[in-house]
Amino acid sequence: MEKLKVMTVFGTRPEGIKMAPIIKELEKRDNIESITCITAQHREMLDQVLHIFDIKPDYDLNIFKPGQSLTKITTRALEGLEEVIIKEKPDVLLVQGDTTTVFSGALAAFYQGVKVGHVEAGLRSGNIHSPYPEEANRMLTGILTEYHFAPTIRNMDNLTKENYPKDKIYITGNTVIDALQYVIKEDYSFENELLNNLDYKDKRIILMTSHRRENIGKPMENIFSAVNDIVNKYEDTEVVFPVHLNPKVRDIANKILGSNPKVHLIDPLDYEPFTNLMNKVHLVVTDSGGLQEEAPTLGKPVLVVREETERPEGIEAGTAKLVGTKYDDIYENLDLLLSNKEEYDKMAKAVNPYGDGQAAKKIVDVIVKDIGI
Ligand code: UD1
Ligand code: UDP
Repeated sequence: MEKLKVMTVFGTRPEGIKMAPIIKELEKRDNIESITCITAQHREMLDQVLHIFDIKPDYDLNIFKPGQSLTKITTRALEGLEEVIIKEKPDVLLVQGDTTTVFSGALAAFYQGVKVGHVEAGLRSGNIHSPYPEEANRMLTGILTEYHFAPTIRNMDNLTKENYPKDKIYITGNTVIDALQYVIKEDYSFENELLNNLDYKDKRIILMTSHRRENIGKPMENIFSAVNDIVNKYEDTEVVFPVHLNPKVRDIANKILGSNPKVHLIDPLDYEPFTNLMNKVHLVVTDSGGLQEEAPTLGKPVLVVREETERPEGIEAGTAKLVGTKYDDIYENLDLLLSNKEEYDKMAKAVNPYGDGQAAKKIVDVIVKDIGI
């Protein structure tokens, strides 16, 4: 039987997490040959994801080098992908999200005349400089895309406003929900001693992550200083901050938070302990994209330390608040959430604007139906 050949390309932690449910779904179908290719724009942080989801890539371009520029990531990914695409000649190539791997994957496919499916299409902040370079990556990928898999109606509307044909836009939900359902367990216990020994009942634990390129420098110093000062104000609070492996982020984190015994700076966690930790904490402070989707789903108030967001759904639902990157704004919003129970309870509710955990199935169904064999 002739099979439809679907190649998935990804390179960083969040792409791996959100592509994993699609790869699992592709592997289930008898009429599909699934080829996975990682650029390995990230190394350790991506390998963690491959391990959790038990994915063994067919191709590993291994382009990772510490501190390489956007140009280097783009060109090395593009060159490596060209070779693999020429060899495999897939019927369709899937990319997920907004990283440099995503844009390079779409461009490499386009150059070889291979149709592109963009998973998590149509997110827009409206500011090409924020998030940087992700907003541009999304728009550039959109132009090269044949099948736009939009998580929400709003994402579809963003695409139709840019004149993309309606019959090539599919509302599927976000595969982040599929991935979450795979790992969250109410009776989860951690292998990590520190996480196991935290007092989730009597202490208010704040989970923080921060890594955005446009926040590196003064904005990140503001975020960390505000969090540092607020945990010193409230005796019953502690912070867990799994620090991204970017040395620029690690330097700022160590400088501002390194000597505070109430702040636990730890290495990036595997996806399973990380999301189960999120499920147990009091609130979340982040500039991450994925966390803005996960925290509302788990009913955790999330303060988004960015100037813009392309994910307004959690904010509209009341679980997320966009607080910017100025010290006073971050401090005051944290102060309010920690001192005013009513405010906290208003935000601490599970909402799910991102689908029902069936996104991967919907995406693969579209591929089979629309591309055919
Ligand atoms: C990238 C994506 C961003 C995404 C983020 C997820 C781009 C331009 N940015 O940003 O959209 O939100 O991934 O985390 O594609 N490093 C390691 N080991 C790793 C990963 C990173 O040491 O496994 C260090 C390296 O020094 C690397 C630096 O982190 O140079 C930054 O990595 P890079 O992929 O350039 O950008 P991110 O900030 O991770
Ligand atoms: N995550 C993880 N371990 C960590 C921090 C985050 O597994 O220590 C997961 C998180 O659950 C989410 C994804 O990584 O699914 C988000 O990645 P990141 O914040 O690096 O990228 P973004 O979503 O901002 O592109």
